[in-house]
Amino acid sequence: MKKLLTLILCLCTFGVTTASPQNSPKDKFVSKLLKQMTLDEKIGQLAQCTYRGNFTGPDGGNLPKEEYVKQGKIGSMLNVIGIKDIRRYQELALQSRLRIPLIFGLDVIHGYRTGFPLPLAEAASFDLEMIEEAARYNALESAADGLNWVFAPMVDISWDARWGRVMEGAGEDPYYGSRVAEARIRGLQGSNLADTATVMACVKHFAGYGAPIAGKEYNSVDMSLGQFANFYMPPYQAAIQAGAATVMSAFNDFNNIPCTANDFLLNQLLRKKWSFKGFVVSDYNSVEELVNHRYASDKKDAAAKALNAGLDMEMVSTCYLTYLKELIQEGKVKESVLDNAVRRILEKKYELGLFEDPFRYCNPARSARVLNSPEVRNASLRMAERSIVLLENKGSVLPLAPQIKSVALIGGLTKSQWDMAGAWAAMTDRNKIVTLHDALQQKGLAVNYADGYDLKTNRMSGLQEAIQAANASDIIIVAIGEKANQSGEKTSKVNISLPEEQQKLVAELKKTGKPVIVLVMCGRPVIFNEAREHADAVLCTWWLGSEAGNAIYNVLWGKYNPSAKLPMTFPAHVGQIPIHYQQKSTGRPTSLKQAYTASYIDSSTEPAYYFGHGLSYTTFGYSNLNVKPGKTPGIHALVSVKVTNQGLYAGEEVVQLYVQDKTASVTRPIKELKGIRKIKLEAGESQTVTFSITDEALGFYDNDMNYKVEPGDFIFMVGGSSNNLQQITFALKEHNSNKK
Ligand code: GLC
Repeated sequence: MKKLLTLILCLCTFGVTTASPQNSPKDKFVSKLLKQMTLDEKIGQLAQCTYRGNFTGPDGGNLPKEEYVKQGKIGSMLNVIGIKDIRRYQELALQSRLRIPLIFGLDVIHGYRTGFPLPLAEAASFDLEMIEEAARYNALESAADGLNWVFAPMVDISWDARWGRVMEGAGEDPYYGSRVAEARIRGLQGSNLADTATVMACVKHFAGYGAPIAGKEYNSVDMSLGQFANFYMPPYQAAIQAGAATVMSAFNDFNNIPCTANDFLLNQLLRKKWSFKGFVVSDYNSVEELVNHRYASDKKDAAAKALNAGLDMEMVSTCYLTYLKELIQEGKVKESVLDNAVRRILEKKYELGLFEDPFRYCNPARSARVLNSPEVRNASLRMAERSIVLLENKGSVLPLAPQIKSVALIGGLTKSQWDMAGAWAAMTDRNKIVTLHDALQQKGLAVNYADGYDLKTNRMSGLQEAIQAANASDIIIVAIGEKANQSGEKTSKVNISLPEEQQKLVAELKKTGKPVIVLVMCGRPVIFNEAREHADAVLCTWWLGSEAGNAIYNVLWGKYNPSAKLPMTFPAHVGQIPIHYQQKSTGRPTSLKQAYTASYIDSSTEPAYYFGHGLSYTTFGYSNLNVKPGKTPGIHALVSVKVTNQGLYAGEEVVQLYVQDKTASVTRPIKELKGIRKIKLEAGESQTVTFSITDEALGFYDNDMNYKVEPGDFIFMVGGSSNNLQQITFALKEHNSNKK
């Protein structure tokens, strides 16, 4: 008995979690294969090389790739594009002694050949079914073109729009970010990884990458474990619980240990506490970069630290390939640790069906049928329509009347296919993108186009032409914002205000007396205080992908009633950052509106636009807010509210439930999103929405990462934006505090 306990303890100590049940077909197959493998062949499975450098990261990977693949020294490749090259490399892999197939990964962040709205834009839809469907189509196109692994979803929470990668995530809220992460995992992976319409997902970047000090790309992340657990951890955990196949470690150090060699994150939290059974891949070159972190003395030290901390596959750098053999021979890395990493990778190749048929994803007929097909484009259009946020609509200038026949269309972004693709759109067929200029012309409108400003210099140019275009038209539509290389990786900014001259142009156009519709095309929250002052309507249209023009047209002319909400606060000043709606009260609450309170002397604390804000062409009334005790175990209360469409247009409302824990054993935010429901109501129609209140809605993590639910008073708040809520109190009488 003692021996058995010791064995179990050992297995747990080295994080040896045989992912599949003992003696399952997969376990038998992988165990048998593992026994046959030489040390070199095992190490080869941990190596991932890039087909092309600086395609998605620093120019790494100048290995003799084809030779290494033939010798079984490479287990995976990234950035191989198209069935022809994928098949070629797979054929080389099958020349190796054990014929172990490669897995092929790519950054399919928001669409493959068909461009979808950037992830932050999709998140603005608050339409989890649509988000899941979009991910499903991303997987369908990727798998149809030979890929079996995408490096998505990025689930990093961020309160800092100076950091350009906010474009890749779902915004600032951990509850909603968790729901989006689950939807994307479901969409990408489906229920069977061997299905050739699905791919492996990769939850990234683990962990905390969205909170770099000063918003500076790749900078250190340092926070209490309570802060991490309450605000940043939930989406990673939700994605793992949703069955994510792989995880990518983040570039940053997390509480002084680089994520790529962070035993707490990779072994203790991910594998032991969350029972993650997949494998962890490093970010691009990040194993070697442990030396730059000055956490490893050299690449050999980096290899030992990363593998012992639970990092399975090394992306691009070659520390494992070069040093693991001698590290094991020197006893600095146990072969059992290597075996566990290899096992986790082989198990995923088995689940993908690659041992059964290494070419199952290489079907040219399927590729020709699926890529950029009307079905996929239609999904992109529906996703784009639902991603557009109506921020202002003064005097209900929108929707535009059908009688509008001539439009002054101002700004190069309205013609730019490249920019509508957005960042991280390596494979999007840009020449098939419908711009707004295309769409308006295709609809038969008289389009009087003018640049208004130079897209490269952002200096006003051709103002007179723009004024003439305006004078000759019924309405002015002007696009301001960022080019696609202004957000995404390596784009941190100290100033997120839109260029002054772009905004001045709006003021000049307003002087013509014609209604001015401002479209903000961006990859992150941006500041445009002057432009919004002179605009009659403002829409955040992000970068919407292949159907951008049609989606914007459909919203402007009321074919689709805008329903999106901001998934991230839009600051009024960059100095307010980090800013988010989940502020703490502090001992001198801002709400007291007096001196000696949590405020600034040179700016308001109010953002330009709140989390959850987004208008519709109709209005929604909230009434009959009610709370009653739950009747079933685990349901503490039921909160219900009646929502009525009070206007003339059918529309969708994102009903939001926020919770405040009035007094707790740690300081808690003034409100936290704990429920969303997107409902469609015809003009005049009402619907009662009910939220079930469970531990998830009431609990929090303390600074030791213990999950707690404490009896006491709570406030439930419901409405259509975080700053427009009705509230009701509720007393939780008792609760047996539990661990989560
Ligand atoms: C990049 C990114 C990561 C991406 C990887 C592969 O640097 O950080 O998100 O998946 O490298 O391209």
